[in-house]
Order: sequence, then structure tokens, then C-alpha cells
Amino acid sequence: MVCLGNICRSPLAEGILKSKVSSDYVQVDSAGTAGYHEGELPDKRSIAVAKKYGINITDQRSRKFSVTDFDSFDVIYAMDESNYDNIVALSRSYEDKSKVKMILQELDPDQKLNVPDPYYGGELGFENVYQMLNNACEEISSKINK
Ligand code: 4NP
Repeated sequence: MVCLGNICRSPLAEGILKSKVSSDYVQVDSAGTAGYHEGELPDKRSIAVAKKYGINITDQRSRKFSVTDFDSFDVIYAMDESNYDNIVALSRSYEDKSKVKMILQELDPDQKLNVPDPYYGGELGFENVYQMLNNACEEISSKINK
């Protein structure tokens, strides 16, 4: 799960998907395309909205996306088109590039919908992001758990 800062959207996506799949079979992680917040906890507002739905994300720390993530993961979900472009720019091969998807395309494959960056907004933005990611992760987990 990849966003820009790895403190708002992708930590929520990581926590939500982890809550829906077995860690015996699926490894879920998150990262940011920028390293501004490296080592930091998720944003307080992401921690709060996750907690509201029974998910603890306080074990997470921000890290920057690395080219070796293409080797470690089968699928790389970008939160928005800018994240997608930044990840694809690091790809070394067609195989790397083909691992990168926009997360909301799981719900709506014909559109390139973005999970909006909630960083500069209020708590409502985080609730909205939570609901979008919960719906997308439900779809991802139902495919994985089939
Ligand atoms: P995220 O949100 O990409 O969902 O983690 C942001 C967090 C920090 C910044 C931008 C977006 N920032 O500019 O510091």
C-alpha cells in the first residue's frame, strides 16, 4: 500500500487489509513515495479513525518505498495517480510495472479514481478515506480468500 507520506492513507490501507486476511498467507505492508515522515507514527487522525473501527495502527512507522519492494511483493497498490506515476517511474521491467495498480480500480476497473489526500483537511476527510479503503480492501480480501 503506497501513498505520498506513508502517514495518512497507506497506513490505514495496511491496517484495514491486515484485519481481513490471514498473516499466515498474506504479507501486507505500506510505504510512501516521499521520505519526509520516515520513522514517524501514522497521523493522529488516521490512528483515531482506525481505532473507531477496532483497528490498531500504532505499531506502524513511516518508511520510503524502495525499488526492492518490487521483489518483495506481488501487488503494489497506489492510492492516487501521482503515487502510481512515481512508483512506475522506479520500475525496472515490465514485470515490476505490471505489479502496480490503483487501489480503487479494484472496485471500479474502468476508472482511475484517486483516494484523496486528507492531510490538509479535517476529520471528515479521514472518515471518507477509511470508507473508500475499507470497500477496496473488502474486495481485495474476498479475491484473496476465495
Ligand atoms: P499521505 O498524506 O500521503 O496519505 O500519507 C500526506 C502526508 C504528508 C504530506 C502529504 C500527504 N506532506 O506533505 O507532508
